[in-house]
Amino acid sequence: MNSLATDVAQPVLEARGLSKRFGGAQVINGVDMAINQGEVRCVIGPNGAGKSTFFKLLTGEHSPSAGEIYFLGQRLNALKPFQRIRRGMSIKFQIPGIFPELTVAQHLQLSLSHLRTAGRGAGDGIDILLEKFRLTAERRQRAGNLSHGKKQWLEIAMAVSLRPTLLMLDEPVAGLSIEETQLTGELIKQMQRDGLTLMVVEHDMTFVRQIATRVTVLHGGRVFADGEAAQVLAREDVADIYLGKAS
Ligand SMILES: Nc1ncnc2c1ncn2[C@@H]1O[C@H](COP(=O)(O)OP(=O)(O)OP(=O)(O)O)[C@@H](O)[C@H]1O
Ligand SMILES: [Mg+2]
Repeated sequence: MNSLATDVAQPVLEARGLSKRFGGAQVINGVDMAINQGEVRCVIGPNGAGKSTFFKLLTGEHSPSAGEIYFLGQRLNALKPFQRIRRGMSIKFQIPGIFPELTVAQHLQLSLSHLRTAGRGAGDGIDILLEKFRLTAERRQRAGNLSHGKKQWLEIAMAVSLRPTLLMLDEPVAGLSIEETQLTGELIKQMQRDGLTLMVVEHDMTFVRQIATRVTVLHGGRVFADGEAAQVLAREDVADIYLGKAS
């Protein structure tokens, strides 16, 4: 864990006045958000609210039209995704990042070799990662033969093996069964207990209730609500925007 992350006064990740325009469309409009050490922050909102665009601004896939991004107090705006990853932001992209022909254990060997190159110290070894992410029985299986859920967990295990300060997930339970979703929630809570900070973009409200400590609601590219999870999720106006009632 990055020692800077233990400074509770300083947010792990901060967006200030973040905006993104695509041609004439203002997709993200002046978003402020601060994620503190140890949180599981869920970003929710109806279809087209700008969640994935906001996520991509934070990870560096898109560059902002205006505003600032700070990670552990350092301005990130000009950094490419791989440079953000090097600083301790780990990202599980929506596109699968696995090699179907390699085994589960070989994937983890690969990501652990990146960790040694990064000089971030030793983290969990392969056996512990396999156990934590429920992949022990599949260690010699080709990744291409894993269930959809186990592929997701392998990717999360690879992201976590890099010992990040912050793990960013965009819709980690899309397409998973109810059981797989529930288990993914347990894995996320375990990672939080291990000291990781997480930001999760998600649609599945049952899953959000299971994992979130704080919730940011995006609507029309702006922050509609932001606060402690139970309070935000209990708000009637938040339910209304999901049902398409609010303007
Ligand atoms: N590269 C792009 N160029 C132009 N418009 C875009 C681009 N990416 C997203 N948009 C538009 O920005 C808006 C927000 O899209 P975004 O994918 O961020 O929403 P979202 O909240 O992630 O939605 P969903 O819940 O469907 O995943 C949409 O109207 C979308 O059409
Ligand atoms: Mg999206």
